[in-house]
Amino acid sequence: MEPLSCRRRCARTPGSTRSVDVSNGSVFTDIAGKYDRINRLLSLGRDQAWRRKVVSKLPEGRLLDLGGGTGAANPVFGDREVVALDPSPEMLGLNTADRRVVAVGEGLPFADDSFDAVFSAYVFRNLDSVTRTVVEVARVLRPGGRLGVVGLGRPRHRVTAAIHRAGSSVVLPVVGTLAGAREEYVYLNRSLDKLPPPEVMFADTPLRLVSLWRMGPLGFVYGVVLEKD
Ligand SMILES: C[S@@+](CC[C@H](N)C(=O)[O-])C[C@H]1O[C@@H](n2cnc3c(N)ncnc32)[C@H](O)[C@@H]1O
Repeated sequence: MEPLSCRRRCARTPGSTRSVDVSNGSVFTDIAGKYDRINRLLSLGRDQAWRRKVVSKLPEGRLLDLGGGTGAANPVFGDREVVALDPSPEMLGLNTADRRVVAVGEGLPFADDSFDAVFSAYVFRNLDSVTRTVVEVARVLRPGGRLGVVGLGRPRHRVTAAIHRAGSSVVLPVVGTLAGAREEYVYLNRSLDKLPPPEVMFADTPLRLVSLWRMGPLGFVYGVVLEKD
């Protein structure tokens, strides 16, 4: 039987007796304190530039940082009023946003039309349901409001995706072992294959697609901006 905390959804590393609970953000609990440093290292210092490019296409005003974690994106939000939402109190505890809310993207505890923008970086592959989350985002955005997402996946073409898969299946467990969180980083590697490519995932949602582009080595990072009509 799975441990109680893992009844909803667990990832088990082959050959390991330990499971990583991915259902409520607790996969990030053990690595909260070192998450930002490891992220910067793994992205070769580009993680903030990828966030900044997406944020530059969002309106000013009230912004929801969905899965805001430790608040790594706060410096690129400028004068916006920021509400950070995350299911992990440990990640959120390190966040200095104006308002912090413990909740999940699939059930946003906010009124209809209450945000000018929603931003989400490196979160979508951790969601229980992308569809439910985008429906919720569409509900809380005002008409003309925008959703901006930075996400990780695999490069677009089969050969480069295979090269990237081979590389990340070695690099991420090594980094995880050095960071004392091997299971978590093995999970992060496997999560890169979880979702369809963004070109498919965002083609048909309640929001209108404004732009979608690839970034990073071999294009394994994507940025996407969608608007509520
Ligand atoms: C890789 S971290 C990204 C944190 C931050 N957005 C950043 O740019 O550094 C992923 C975050 O997504 C959160 N998360 C996991 N499941 C979630 C869900 N269902 N809804 C919202 N956030 C979720 C995790 O707790 C974690 O803080």
